[in-house]
Amino acid sequence: MRNMASLWFVSVLLNSFFWGSFGRPFYPLPSQLGYKDHAPLQLFRPFNIAHRGSNGEFPEETAPAYMRAIKEGADFIETDILATKDGVLMCHHDVVLDYTTDIANHKEFAGRRTTYEVQGQNMTGWFIVDFTLEELKTLRAKQRYSFRDQQYNGKFQIITFEEFISIALAANRVVGIYPEIKNPIFVNRHVKWSNGKKFEDKFVETLVKYGYKGAYKSKDWLKKPVFIQSFAPTSLVYISNVTDSPKIFLIDDVTVRTDDTNQTYEDITSDHYLDYIKEYVIGIGPWKDTVVPPVNNYLTTATDLVARAHARNLQVHPYTYRNENQFLHFNFHQDPYDEYDYWINAIGVDGLFTDFTGSLHQYQEWATPAYGKNSASGILHKIASLISSSKQG
Ligand SMILES: *[C@@H]1O[C@H](CO)[C@@H](O)[C@H](O)[C@H]1NC(C)=O
Ligand SMILES: *[C@@H]1O[C@H](CO)[C@@H](O)[C@H](O)[C@H]1NC(C)=O
Ligand SMILES: *[C@@H]1O[C@H](CO)[C@@H](O)[C@H](O)[C@H]1NC(C)=O
Repeated sequence: MRNMASLWFVSVLLNSFFWGSFGRPFYPLPSQLGYKDHAPLQLFRPFNIAHRGSNGEFPEETAPAYMRAIKEGADFIETDILATKDGVLMCHHDVVLDYTTDIANHKEFAGRRTTYEVQGQNMTGWFIVDFTLEELKTLRAKQRYSFRDQQYNGKFQIITFEEFISIALAANRVVGIYPEIKNPIFVNRHVKWSNGKKFEDKFVETLVKYGYKGAYKSKDWLKKPVFIQSFAPTSLVYISNVTDSPKIFLIDDVTVRTDDTNQTYEDITSDHYLDYIKEYVIGIGPWKDTVVPPVNNYLTTATDLVARAHARNLQVHPYTYRNENQFLHFNFHQDPYDEYDYWINAIGVDGLFTDFTGSLHQYQEWATPAYGKNSASGILHKIASLISSSKQG
């Protein structure tokens, strides 16, 4: 009996760690990751933006994905913000829960599958806006891509915007956040807040609550760096009235129109439009294939988008860099370092959204080490340069 009881206790304990229901996850908090000082955000090389956390390794937008990204050297952790039925802001990319959670296994929710119009198209699934926070916390995340590690499926919860912020703030160095106002038209249609508040208001309120404020590179910003991103220009213009935090205007594929203003790619990347939007945003976040269009999986000549953005003092943060062969254009002979070298040195971007923060960080530590030439990677780089210059000589 005693053995049974203690076995039962150990199993509950293990499960609790697994599911995080003790409020303390079993993985290390960023403050325990061993950074020696509260180092500031680096500003001397392009930003390493951990797209949905280190989602190349862990299920996207979960606490472990963000912890891992911080450990691997992310400058910013990136997330998509949506809202629950009861108005809680959540980190989740899709408006449906089908592709990155185990909702299909939850019989109690079978009747909630439905069809809504999203960006002009009918979509069927379990929509996040139909579930309360309490219900969402019973779900477990899973890896989106079949070719990535499946061992963490079923282990981690979806997290709230506030939990996401806590992870960044718990790091023992300055780690910025890069949240997206996701599908604002859809969210405002389905979720209602008191006092006529909109999704955008709740989004900014959350940032302000945690001390995120101030213009790019201001004292406040350097303490708690944030970039606010959206594909919806009206949301960015709207919030520019209430926060001076820097904003990034996301730009989709050439065939996709803006959700809110129904503008074409040609329109929003015109000189005229860049002159307008530069009053509200500090940069653009284009899909990388629109900057350098590929043909037959080879990159062709770069467009002048980066030059025209830089001429207006707009930063350029393209998305998304992924290590796997199926995402790498043939020019890079299956080497993600070659891709980073091209985008950083030939194209001259100011930040990169990557699924593999560790790879980008190691590339940057090799090419432009953070702690100068005496760091381990700095010395290796020096040796490599000596070897290559003696070869040339
Ligand atoms: C979505 O489905 C509804 C109901 O069948 C239909 O009335 C509407 O036209 C559809 N919308 C689109 C964009 O296909
Ligand atoms: C910004 O605030 C001003 C003053 O309250 C208001 O007149 C204007 O419509 C607002 N702009 C946007 C885009 O909401
Ligand atoms: C967007 O504009 C195109 C071209 O004028 C039009 O065909 C389409 O119906 C518009 N979409 C919406 C949602 O208004």
